[in-house]
Amino acid sequence: MSTQPHSDALVLFGATGDLAHKKLFDTIQALIQRNTLTGKVIGVAKSDMTRDQLLTRAREGITTYGRGVNEAAFKTFSDNFQFVNGDYADIATFKELKKALGNAQRPLHYLAIPPVLFGTVTKQLESADCVIGARVVVEKPFGNNSASAKQLNEILHEVFDEQHIFRIDHYLGKEATQNILFTRFANAFLEPIWNRQYVKEIQITMAESFGVQGRGKFYDQTGCIRDVIENHLMQVVGFLCMEPPIWSDMERVRDEQVKLFRSVRTLTTHDVVRGQFDGYLNEPGVAANSQTETWGAIRLMIDNWRWAGVPVYIRAGKCMPISATEVRVEFHHPPNVVFPDAPPGPPNFVRFLLSPRIEIGINMQAKIDGELMSGMPIELMTVDTQPDEMTPYERLIGDAIRGDQALFARQDTVEEGWRIVENILDHVVPVMKYKPGTWGPELANQILMPAGGWYSP
Ligand code: BG6
Repeated sequence: MSTQPHSDALVLFGATGDLAHKKLFDTIQALIQRNTLTGKVIGVAKSDMTRDQLLTRAREGITTYGRGVNEAAFKTFSDNFQFVNGDYADIATFKELKKALGNAQRPLHYLAIPPVLFGTVTKQLESADCVIGARVVVEKPFGNNSASAKQLNEILHEVFDEQHIFRIDHYLGKEATQNILFTRFANAFLEPIWNRQYVKEIQITMAESFGVQGRGKFYDQTGCIRDVIENHLMQVVGFLCMEPPIWSDMERVRDEQVKLFRSVRTLTTHDVVRGQFDGYLNEPGVAANSQTETWGAIRLMIDNWRWAGVPVYIRAGKCMPISATEVRVEFHHPPNVVFPDAPPGPPNFVRFLLSPRIEIGINMQAKIDGELMSGMPIELMTVDTQPDEMTPYERLIGDAIRGDQALFARQDTVEEGWRIVENILDHVVPVMKYKPGTWGPELANQILMPAGGWYSP
């Protein structure tokens, strides 16, 4: 736990945007309820909305996408809320912000805005004297490729020190993701088999039953690989495959994460397939002839002592039959010599269901009652029946307010993430069509297929 001083105001750039509407106002309310956020909340955006209209929108967002309005906390939020309505290119906007901050000493600036605006906003914050004691949270995507990630980093570093920069990847704040790390290193029995001697392959599927949900413009410039594979699912790979960190310091977890990423081979066009759901081109904001993928699958190879030769398959997509994210670590078959008459069963595997619930399953063979020595697959399973006590955003913004960087992406990890995918970005292989409600393009699923076939959660 960090002993840094708490931020005493939250400044939300992009206050009228989609993220604020769907996630951040709900998070702010929860942080107020927990007493983590006690100071002013200042929304900044250029908009036709008034302060009251923005508050109405916040209330509506919390009701529709969040956990419902808590009247007492919402009242505290409204009482503490100010809206600075102005252009980011105009210094007057930032002078007004400075005034609104009053005697706050340590604001947390949350940039829920397109990365092209980061430079303008941070420079203006500096000119208006709003950076001393401040921290900055930046939303993904952190760059578009390695070069732009480096550039973005330089821009932020012109104004903020590394210890004041918080790169958010909400998968790091998820209970389910942290559970992978915990399960691996809090138990003795997994470690001896968690390597190439025993593991045959790994699969991760992230399926979403919905489409781009009105985010066509953003999504069309991003695509599935940049949107969720390069960042969220790579974080999962990191926790799943890293070497044991020295836990006493979370910074060491980030060291192991980057070490692992460094050993992942740069992907080539043979390691990727892409798909686009029928109807995507009619989404508002999507280019008429867009080649952007709404579904993608990749195969990673990790060139280190533990994992050499074990493929890691990752598949993610919109408009799938269900919404679920699952990791499956599959083991080699045992030698079929003791019970040669029994048909070989499915391989053993360990399964982490990350959503919609948290489940951990260990799959094995057990004998079927009777005279024959034959078996059937069974699963030893645990289910987390408690819904998330805290949402990932609540956890992470709370950490940022406390100045704790442990669950934020470090620049070296971000750059390695981009290095891994940089040769497969931007339509290097054709995009194949698939019908909404299916598991992606049939042909693509065959071209890049794990030896044991794709398992759907
Ligand atoms: C976001 C992506 O970062 O993560 C979305 O932009 C995606 O497209 C979302 O739907 C998935 O997050 P979660 O927490 O619902 O799995």
